[in-house]
Amino acid sequence: MPARLMTEARILVVDDQESNVQLLDRLLRMKGYAHIETLTDSRQAVDRFVATRPDLVCLDLRMPHMSGLEVLEELQPLIGAGDYVPILILTADTAPETKQMALSMGAKDFLNKPFDAVEALLRIHNLLETRFLYLELRAQNERLDQKVRERTRELEEAQHEILARLALAAEYRDDQTGEHTRRVGHLAALLARELGLTDAEVELIRQAAPLHDIGKIGIPDAVLMKPGRLTAAEFEVMKTHAEIGARLLSGSRFPLLRLAQEIARTHHEWWNGNGYLGLAGEQIPLASRIVTVADTFDAITHDRPYRAGRSIRAAIDELRREADRQFDPTVVEAIARVLETEMGFDEGGREEIADCRLTIAD
Ligand SMILES: [Fe+2]
Repeated sequence: MPARLMTEARILVVDDQESNVQLLDRLLRMKGYAHIETLTDSRQAVDRFVATRPDLVCLDLRMPHMSGLEVLEELQPLIGAGDYVPILILTADTAPETKQMALSMGAKDFLNKPFDAVEALLRIHNLLETRFLYLELRAQNERLDQKVRERTRELEEAQHEILARLALAAEYRDDQTGEHTRRVGHLAALLARELGLTDAEVELIRQAAPLHDIGKIGIPDAVLMKPGRLTAAEFEVMKTHAEIGARLLSGSRFPLLRLAQEIARTHHEWWNGNGYLGLAGEQIPLASRIVTVADTFDAITHDRPYRAGRSIRAAIDELRREADRQFDPTVVEAIARVLETEMGFDEGGREEIADCRLTIAD
């Protein structure tokens, strides 16, 4: 223990006899201790303890008004289980019952009065050493906790980035920037928040949503990139992207990937039951109902090779027309609210909204 640290210890001395207090104070100062508080009125002990938060308390037992045991009793809850503040009892009472009582109430050591100066300083030194070792251990634990939190955050960021790149791989053939999947993730998160989901659920949806079309990896170019309408047979092939995606993401024990799997499997379900699997209404997971609306909104408002992107207003009108049929009407109203109120939607200001959305999400 560095000597400098030891002499910085805050020590509270409580003894009704002025001569005892002065003797101990002098001894401690000679030894280099500089932060010593002394009290002869034990009724002030608890308040001084709270105000100065000492590293050690030297406490007399027999005092008028409030005995040392009574002071101990009040100090106990203030020290608490998560701290270690040694209390050294100064007493002329050597009865075993008194000592046992004091020990059971949190006292750590005894000094019999009249005390020997060398012994007193040694006992004080030892108790402070334990106190500082305890503080050092606690600080070390806090540093370790901090490190664990940092590492955990880094792992989460790495996981986030890998998933984003995986989503990009799925979209790479028709969206080389990955902007579409990113926007769908952001918008889905805004909708989830608007619908009252918890912060943790919102974050899960933000990260899982971009993976909804991961199964497109398994769709041949001839079908996926066909410029015209798909034949019935081609459409059947196209539909398998939901199941392929779910298979790619299956078997994980992580909630994020489990949610991504669920979204991949059911993001083409219709509110009225006319989707790929025939699920209807609330049989369709809420996250999927959210992603379906966010995905459709983004597709309508952005340019495609065969058509220009349309306005926000047109997209909302389109979604409202399909509410109750293709989309969950609650989610459609949520997107209208998010775009019209929270984001200060301006008629025809499509780019403005796109920027705004990214700014909010980032
Ligand atoms: Fe899809």
